[in-house]
Amino acid sequence: MSASLATVSYIGAIILFILSLGGLSNPETSRRGNFYGMIGMTIAVLATIFGPRVSMAGIPWIIGAMAVGGTIGLYAARKVQMTQMPELVAIMHSMVGLAAALVGFANYIDPGAAYQLTSTEKSIHEIEIYLGILIGVVTFSGSIIAFGKLAGKIGGKPMLLPGRHLMNLAGLLVVIFFGWQFLHSESVSAGLVGLTVMTVIAFLFGIHMVMAIGGADMPVVVSMLNSYSGWAAAATGFMLNNDLLIVTGALVGSSGAILSYIMCRAMNRNFISVIAGGFGSGGGKPAAKGDGQPAGETVSISSAETAELLREAKNVIIVPGYGMAVAQAQHTVYEITKCLREKGVNVRFGIHPVAGRMPGHMNVLLAEAKVPYDIVMEMDEINADFPDTDVSMVIGANDIVNPAAQDDPTSPIAGMPVLEVWKAKTSIVMKRSMATGYAGVDNPLFYKENNRMLFGDAKKMLDEVLIALKS
Ligand code: TAP
Repeated sequence: MSASLATVSYIGAIILFILSLGGLSNPETSRRGNFYGMIGMTIAVLATIFGPRVSMAGIPWIIGAMAVGGTIGLYAARKVQMTQMPELVAIMHSMVGLAAALVGFANYIDPGAAYQLTSTEKSIHEIEIYLGILIGVVTFSGSIIAFGKLAGKIGGKPMLLPGRHLMNLAGLLVVIFFGWQFLHSESVSAGLVGLTVMTVIAFLFGIHMVMAIGGADMPVVVSMLNSYSGWAAAATGFMLNNDLLIVTGALVGSSGAILSYIMCRAMNRNFISVIAGGFGSGGGKPAAKGDGQPAGETVSISSAETAELLREAKNVIIVPGYGMAVAQAQHTVYEITKCLREKGVNVRFGIHPVAGRMPGHMNVLLAEAKVPYDIVMEMDEINADFPDTDVSMVIGANDIVNPAAQDDPTSPIAGMPVLEVWKAKTSIVMKRSMATGYAGVDNPLFYKENNRMLFGDAKKMLDEVLIALKS
């Protein structure tokens, strides 16, 4: 393939990636958005493999690597449960970071990479390598810890080391010092010393940064790491002199940064302090021992009574959460919604921006179950309507409907906006036990006078409610 054909293909791929991002901004067009992305990536890969910069001798190696990577990816994508998707995404971010770091080292060691560069160009190239490895390694170790936290292998409580801000600052100074040494090193082996020290510090910083995050702030970190993985890819593009990788990385980096900003606003967290790694403290105290223990009396309700309340209601708001995803109850939720709407009940959904375990988690599930988009509302659109609502039905949600976020300034989730389900005439919470949600804090909603608890697996309970509604 000639160089100009490769360039045209790259431009085509970039346009498709932009169209893809545009499509993904709305559930109705997201399928198309994904499709554009897949075509764009196919063009990008083919144009790179058969482009002018890959020799024929390298092609079998690339195809071999693609076969191994593709098989692992296909296996993982087919095996993964919908509820494990965030963990998969976190592991994929770590791969992007690792790839950027490895490319950086290879590029530095490879004597051909800086061949024929002027001394200024060589310095710029080395800055690209240093920054590329730095971002890549932070993304790598941070994403591994995020994976551990999302998978429940590492506790959700923030690990707040004494003097952690000072430690971060000291680490930054050491990184700058060795960066200066690296740029002025006389030989590759001397340069590798600076690179290795920086890699170790970046690795520890990534771990420290994510360990310091409290459970409820994880969404912000996941989208920050998404953004970092984009910048790591862009840095790789600079190292390899590949325009497509630079633009694609910048697209992921900037869209991830915008998403992080939106997440910060949704969680009422300060964007700058999140970027600076100063979170964990901004959201109130970490939960004290015993904070997660139930503290009050609850009133239970049966499925038949729930159906009765729903049937008599004029306005119903359903608030789904992580438990709906675990129970895979979205199809029954749709059946109940259809049944109630046929009876003239106004049913709408209230979606919290961090409900579930990944951005848009609930929207994806409801779209899969064919719930009409026009009754699925964002938190800000629907929160004022709870006082005029007869029944608010909380399905497997906990933190996102916790009034302590508003009432208790010492709560780890203090300041996080929540769906005010308790303002409805009756709220019904569907969950299996009194266990806490992701943030590990008790929920005073359960003990409110107008609240009822429907204990059990969400799918099983909703099936019973549906049968009762239809009888
Ligand atoms: P959570 O607060 O985690 O609560 C989910 C509840 O579902 C649990 O209390 C659990 O109680 C219940 N549950 C689990 N399995 C169930 C089943 N089969 N049937 C019925 N109930 C079941 O979820 P949420 O309200 O959606 O809030 C999301 C939390 O995750 C927030 O703290 C958020 O910060 C965090 N987070 C979000 C994201 C993103 S981007 N969305 C990413 C990482 C973390 P039982 O065990 O008693 O059933």
